[in-house]
Amino acid sequence: MKESLLQALDGLETQLEEALAQAQSESDLLQIKGRFLGKKGELAQVLSAMGRLSAEERPQVGVKANQVKEALCSRLQSSLQGFQQKVLDQALASDHFDITLPGVPVEFSSMHPLIQVLEEINTLFRRLGFEVRYGPEIEDEYHNFEALNIPEDHPARDEQDTFYLKTGRLLRTHTSTVQIRVMETEKPPIKMIAPGTVYRSDHDLTHSPMFHQVEGLWVDRGIHFGHLKGVLKLFVKSFFGSETNLRFRASYFPFTEPSAELDVSCVFCHAKKSACPVCKDTGWLEVLGCGMVDPNVFEKVGLDPQVYSGFAFGMGVERMAMLKLGIPDLRLFFENDLRFLKQF
Ligand code: DAH
Repeated sequence: MKESLLQALDGLETQLEEALAQAQSESDLLQIKGRFLGKKGELAQVLSAMGRLSAEERPQVGVKANQVKEALCSRLQSSLQGFQQKVLDQALASDHFDITLPGVPVEFSSMHPLIQVLEEINTLFRRLGFEVRYGPEIEDEYHNFEALNIPEDHPARDEQDTFYLKTGRLLRTHTSTVQIRVMETEKPPIKMIAPGTVYRSDHDLTHSPMFHQVEGLWVDRGIHFGHLKGVLKLFVKSFFGSETNLRFRASYFPFTEPSAELDVSCVFCHAKKSACPVCKDTGWLEVLGCGMVDPNVFEKVGLDPQVYSGFAFGMGVERMAMLKLGIPDLRLFFENDLRFLKQF
């Protein structure tokens, strides 16, 4: 019995070699592996017969069985590698890969013109001591309207074409919301600008439903309209050039009293008024809204209007960028055309 098992084990390696010699593919190999090493394979059959050996004989056959098992495994493994290498060699021989071909260049763009202009605005105001502050883009009616002295029945609520969310909140229609958030939580002196994205349900050649604004606010004891004029004059002359003139026109905003609009002399025709499509020969371009913080706004945020005063302003970043860089069409900012973006 022992002898016949040892013989059977000895024979397995030769049988495997014969089977491998016939194998054509990896799947043939898998089959062969099952035939020799599977649960009911050749080796398993020998092992199952070992139960009938005496306690003395069993280890002798066991040692041999382990040696044979290892030999079969390693032979199958090397045969598998041989097949895989053959497949790879064939693929390499039929595929041509020219490593001397130049690569496809990666296209680099530049900083988006809106971001460039926004950074410049931030830098100019920071130089004047304004801190950059941020607020949420999803707002409530209170911060977007109510606290800014825009009551429920006020026509400005319609004018602003608000996007309302199902939750009752809204996408902020202006960055003036950040004035409120800062004044609610901090005591003056407050000297801040708030750059950010704003949303209005308005889409045509000159309006995008998403655009950018920079809000400004300076509140302290004794701030007056002279401070407003001084700060904005410095800003405009640094931003558009020292030859630029400016004028304030009386206007109306619910959150400022008095309010004004700021015009700059046309940066395209330099107020020569000769068929200028941008200023339409008025010589002036409207750039921002501003005014002295309305006492009602101070009361909403718990500041005493008898003690504090301040000014605020708000400008559209797209408009500033179009004027500064001579960009004729608002849509260019949002199309991500590298031919446009690379010019800046
Ligand atoms: N929030 C105004 C708007 O979106 C812009 C504005 C005007 C802001 C006058 C101000 C201001 O702070 O004083 O049209």
